[in-house]
Parts: sequence; structure tokens; C-alpha cells
Amino acid sequence: MTFLDSIVVKRDGGVNSREQLDELARGAADGSVPDYQLSAWLMAAYVKGLDPKETADLTLAMAHSGERLDLTGLPRPWLDKHSTGGVGDKTTLVVLPILAACGVTVVKMSGRGLGTTGGTIDKLESVPGFRTDLMPEEMVAQAKRIGIALSGQTPRLAPADKALYALRDVTGTVASIPLITASILSKKIAGGAETVVLDVKCGSGAFMKSLTEAESLAHSLVETGRLCGLQMRAVITDMDQPLGSTVGNALEVKEALAVLDPSYSSTLDDTEEDDTDGRRRFFNLCVGLAGHALEAVGKGNHEDALAAVRSGRALTKLKVWFEAQGCSIDLDQDVNWQEPRTKRDVVLDGESGYVSRVCAKTVGEVALELGAGRVTKDDPIDPTAGVTVMRGIGSKILPGEPLFEMQSSRDVDWGQLSTRLRQAVSVSSEQVGGVRPLIKIVD
Ligand code: URA
Repeated sequence: MTFLDSIVVKRDGGVNSREQLDELARGAADGSVPDYQLSAWLMAAYVKGLDPKETADLTLAMAHSGERLDLTGLPRPWLDKHSTGGVGDKTTLVVLPILAACGVTVVKMSGRGLGTTGGTIDKLESVPGFRTDLMPEEMVAQAKRIGIALSGQTPRLAPADKALYALRDVTGTVASIPLITASILSKKIAGGAETVVLDVKCGSGAFMKSLTEAESLAHSLVETGRLCGLQMRAVITDMDQPLGSTVGNALEVKEALAVLDPSYSSTLDDTEEDDTDGRRRFFNLCVGLAGHALEAVGKGNHEDALAAVRSGRALTKLKVWFEAQGCSIDLDQDVNWQEPRTKRDVVLDGESGYVSRVCAKTVGEVALELGAGRVTKDDPIDPTAGVTVMRGIGSKILPGEPLFEMQSSRDVDWGQLSTRLRQAVSVSSEQVGGVRPLIKIVD
């Protein structure tokens, strides 16, 4: 059998064996299968699909294409969290410290942002001194000491994914559920996780725009993960409006710090509906996700997650984590880090009313143009750039009041960006109902 046989089988709608998929992953990692054959196979897989066992075999083949992080000796449970990415999604920065404060070992590799979707690595690199290039040995040693370690992706783990993803990017084969599933889970398995909690984002600011698409991806991830021997939990969460009140790297780290501060959650009144800037929604999402993760590993529930925040243990864990990875500022004293050169308000110029829409996609695009993201993978980022959402869906607003604050240290077309942000919002005379639920459980 040659790799050509594997392509022909897939082209004709057949099923590739584990051996064939091992050859594919090995060939992608070490270059022994040429790019033109890998590309042909990817297109055949995109068009014909993979069945559940094939998807699991491909995942394991890719996970074993390089080194695997050996977490032996670290306290169990070992958990990883994955988000499919969205606008203002800084959930990892809040959920990981909560979990570590509750006795879970979290070792995570994260990516950089591309387009309107931000990346955790970019957010953390906005923190002065923060290292995101930990070697696998350093990650394990740090997780042993403090229960938490996060780094950028290393080419030593799941190298087949790196090669195949680069080809998918240029052959129109990214948007395939089995290929996305294998790509995500192979990196989790190579990173040593035994339990994976998935946050599948759904809406205008996410990869998956409709609930049907998000459900298909979530089901594929859960089924494949279980076939690969992982414990899985998945939720679908709303990404029609930006998550929380900020979009932009340093801004989002500061928001994560603010919601972990016990003084924030102690001011929340559960009987009050008001959530002017959407920050409370973000807080509820983080505590909800952490609660699901704790349940999945038998370490507690929603109440335990909330207690970890309210007691200050989660914030302390975040500070210990940041210091371990090189953070060179005192987060309690130095509040003005990464201040932008310019800030501009975008105000409501029409009738008063209630905000009924804040388009996550447009806010993400404006943040990108302010310098918070990159269009191509080597573009530089302005860590100070971003958008603060002053009024989320459902909040009341009067003419002249601010809808957003934009900020950047670059020379940008403030007028044009302001017009676009204004168009991202709809205001109606009645308060809207029927906003998509924040969290939908998948099983
Ligand atoms: N994220 C990944 O890691 N892989 C994909 O294929 C898509 C999103």
C-alpha cells in the first residue's frame, strides 16, 4: 500500500484504516508524504467526511506524531479547557485560576489570534514580562509547583497538526468538522490532558454562526474525545454580542483581574437584572464553565467555583501563576500598564431606548483595525488597542451617552471606526426579550 491508495480510498468515499492514518500523520510531521498528496487527501476528506472511528484514529495518529507531555507525578485530575474562540473571549484567564484554586491541575497550550478572534497568548503577552514560550519540561515543573501552566504551542507536540493546518489554510479545507475535531483534540492528548472541557462559541463573532453548526462540532468533539479515552464535557455559549465589556489584549487581562477580585462578586445582587456593560454575563459564564469542569472531574460544582472567587483564592492563584511565568509588574499597584496614546468615545446620536443588538463581528473587526489583532499571522499587535463596550444588550441608553470607548496607540481613522461601531448597535423603544441563552449544555 502507498499513500496514493489512502487518497483513492477517501476519494471514493471509503474508510481509511488506522495504519493509513498513522502514515498520513507521520508523513505530515516528517515531510515523507509530499504536500500535493496531503492536500489531495485533505480535499477528499473535506468532501467525503470521516466516520467517528476514523476521526478518532486520525486524532490519535496526529497526537502521536511528536512528543507527548508526561504529567506523571502531578496531582490528578489533569484537565484542559478549550474554546473555539470569539470576540472578547478571555474566559481562560478566569477559569484556569478558579480550577487550580479548587485542586485541579491545569496544563494548557494556547494559540495566537487571527482575524477577529483573539488569542490567549496575545492577551498574556500584553502583561509586561509574561513568558509564553515555556518548554514542555518547564510547564510540567511549574504545574507541579503551583497547579497551573500555560504556554504557546510548541512544534514538538502534535507536529502533524501544524503541517496539516497550514495546508488546510491554503486549500479551502479548514471548515470540516472531522478535521477541526482531530486538530483540536490531537493537541489536547499530546498535552497530557485526561479531561477536556469545551466551550463551543456560537454567533456572529464565532467560527460557528448557527446553533446547528455549533451542535455538530460539539457532538463530534465529545464523541471523538470519548473514543480516544478522554473524559469530555462540552457547552455551547453565546457569541452574538462581545463577551464581557472589553475586546483587546491588555484591556481583557484587566477585565479578567477585575472580575476575579472578590469585591466585584460581592457587589452582585442576584435579584437584579441590570448588566449595563455585559461584565456580569462574562462572570456568570466563567463561574458556570468552571462549575461544569469541577463536576466533570469530581472536584466540586458551581458553588465551589463561586466560593473560590468570593474567598479571593482564585485571584491569589492568578497572581502566583503570573509571577511564575515572569510577570514583572505588581498587579495590585501598577494599574496603568499598557495605557494607550488615544481614547475616543462613540456616543448615541439618536433616540433614547434599549440596546437590542451589539454585533460581535463588527466590534471584533474594529478592534482589529485599532491594532488589537492581526490579519496575517506575522502582523505586529498593539497591546494597548481595543474597544470597551459601555452598553450591552438590554441596557437603557440616552442620547449623548457613550456606547463604546475605542483606544489605540496607532494613527487610525477614528471617524470611520466610530461610524462602524455605531452601526454595530441597534436601539429600540422596548426592552428586547429572547436573547440567546448564555450556556447550553451538550451531552
Ligand atoms: N482550531 C484548531 O485548533 N484547529 C482547527 O482546525 C480549527 C480551530
